[in-house]
Amino acid sequence: MNFKDEVKKEILAQGKDKKILKITKKWMERAQELRYSYHFEWMGRPIIQHPQDMIATQQLIWDIKPDLIIETGIARGGSLIFYASLLELISQSGKIKNAKVLGIDIDIRKENLKEIKKHPMYKRINLIEGSSTNKEVYEKVYKFSKKFKKIMVFLDSNHTEEHVINELEIYAKLVTKNSYCVVFDTLIDDFPLVCGKNRLGEKTIIQKVH
Ligand SMILES: C[S@@+](CC[C@H](N)C(=O)[O-])C[C@H]1O[C@@H](n2cnc3c(N)ncnc32)[C@H](O)[C@@H]1O
Repeated sequence: MNFKDEVKKEILAQGKDKKILKITKKWMERAQELRYSYHFEWMGRPIIQHPQDMIATQQLIWDIKPDLIIETGIARGGSLIFYASLLELISQSGKIKNAKVLGIDIDIRKENLKEIKKHPMYKRINLIEGSSTNKEVYEKVYKFSKKFKKIMVFLDSNHTEEHVINELEIYAKLVTKNSYCVVFDTLIDDFPLVCGKNRLGEKTIIQKVH
């Protein structure tokens, strides 16, 4: 068996392993209480992600080599800069040209915008302020995306069930064949204290956490 297949097999086994699941849930709960996901930066900008997720995302981006990444929910810009820097590196291989990241956020704060704009990776970034599910906003996104051939979508904005379903309806259409729409929500249901069982009913709490 080659190494890639071996890793695949191990990952599947790991996903079914009750011991690691139990330890991980415990660890994640405590890490959430300590605001672990807020403690990292990418090229100087705060990113609200677990490094494990960043590595997985990097693997996807390298595999797909998209010329457009659309992200809903940009916060302080760390994830935008992360994706833009990966596109910059991939472009060095000559495999993609003029690849861009399009970020959408309901509230792009002045100080964050200032820092994002002066970052060397800003050359690959475009921004739209507004709710990702607002018609005018997504029409702008559709228009912008027309000139791109390989599109990935990352949904990381408002994590209520209702909003994510609406986003999926709008944004999944833009994902090109064999590419991915990643919803940064896997942990939501595992944190009753943070998000509640019914994510719809806990809107305010979810927003406060993010
Ligand atoms: C979890 S943070 C994003 C973290 C960022 N992706 C990162 O990795 O650093 C969520 C962001 O979603 C934004 N947001 C909340 N509701 C939104 C909506 N309806 N449309 C677009 N953005 C929204 C918030 O303003 C916040 O900046």
